[in-house]
Amino acid sequence: MRPVPIPLIDPFDRRVKDLRISITDRCNFRCAYCMPEEGMRWLDRSELLTYEELARIARVCVERFGFEAIRITGGEPLVRAHVVRLIELLSPLGVDIALTTNGVKLPEVAHDLARAGLTRVNISLDSLRRETFLALTRRDELDRVIAGVDAAIDAGLTPVKINAVVMRGINDDEVVDLARFGRDKGVGVRFIEFMPLDAQGEWSHDKVVPSREILERIDAVFPLRREAVPGSGHEQPAERFEYADGGGDVGVIASVTEPFCDNCDRVRITAEGKFRTCLFALEEFDLRSVVRDQSAERPLSDDAVDDLLAAEIARAVGTKWAGHRIGQVDFIRPDRSMSQIGG
Ligand code: 5AD
Ligand code: SF4
Repeated sequence: MRPVPIPLIDPFDRRVKDLRISITDRCNFRCAYCMPEEGMRWLDRSELLTYEELARIARVCVERFGFEAIRITGGEPLVRAHVVRLIELLSPLGVDIALTTNGVKLPEVAHDLARAGLTRVNISLDSLRRETFLALTRRDELDRVIAGVDAAIDAGLTPVKINAVVMRGINDDEVVDLARFGRDKGVGVRFIEFMPLDAQGEWSHDKVVPSREILERIDAVFPLRREAVPGSGHEQPAERFEYADGGGDVGVIASVTEPFCDNCDRVRITAEGKFRTCLFALEEFDLRSVVRDQSAERPLSDDAVDDLLAAEIARAVGTKWAGHRIGQVDFIRPDRSMSQIGG
């Protein structure tokens, strides 16, 4: 008989129920806020968790702890082969399965992903100007990403959301254009504050465009309702606002200026199987050694390995801290970029 799930509560009384799984650290883009143009060192294939190992960890999170949502991230998850297969393995868990992608491969795979059981996608799109897109991502792929947005809508991977990281002096003048693009396509745009999570140390406080400023710029052209959509802050970090004319909604993720850590329900697993309780965590828990090595010397039953995984996950969640401290004197930058942790 399956055990009844026991909610996982962290030391700050938050229920942890959202698992973010990075499946690769590699990417076909080189976004300026994430990684340098050259010189990234990639994990060796043998270090990656297999899809079966990942699905096992996800199953333990759902069955033992009642996790409600899974998000597949990277790097760029769609550069790893056979992602459809992973979705097929996760789909029987019966929880929400989302994927964060740069969108370039969506024209080819959106329909297969939807058929396999993927619920929805978030697509990163920071500029609608070809030159700025190229400067930001170092790839001339704007048209294909827009085709990817259309493919996702067509495949029913809805609600499709667009993630736009805003950097002062680079794309902050495009906030209104991006909002208009979202209104026209019927997709929600979420503007993300630039966080100190780039491999090359580009980040500085003056490159962060505060979410309040983003909302003011949009409101000046497309008036927004005053109150945020209720409840949004709890389920997701985006604070959402509806357009007064009924043209959809827009979100802001104020990770730097108004951290949402109080409502955080997330944990992450890196592509090589390190469990992290915060993007900015300094400690990692090695789940790969639990799933992979336990069986070698003294073969354990499947249940016993699940027990060990559950115990390690619970131990890790016991170290989850109250929140990150970007901008404070005691903030310590993680030595990994978003692509290495998982977005
Ligand atoms: N700051 C904010 N967002 C970032 N992302 C990647 N690096 C950063 C950063 N330094 C975003 C990507 C994508 C998601 C996975 O994380 O744009 O939408
Ligand atoms: Fe790739 Fe995403 Fe990093 Fe851009 S932000 S380089 S798309 S992993």
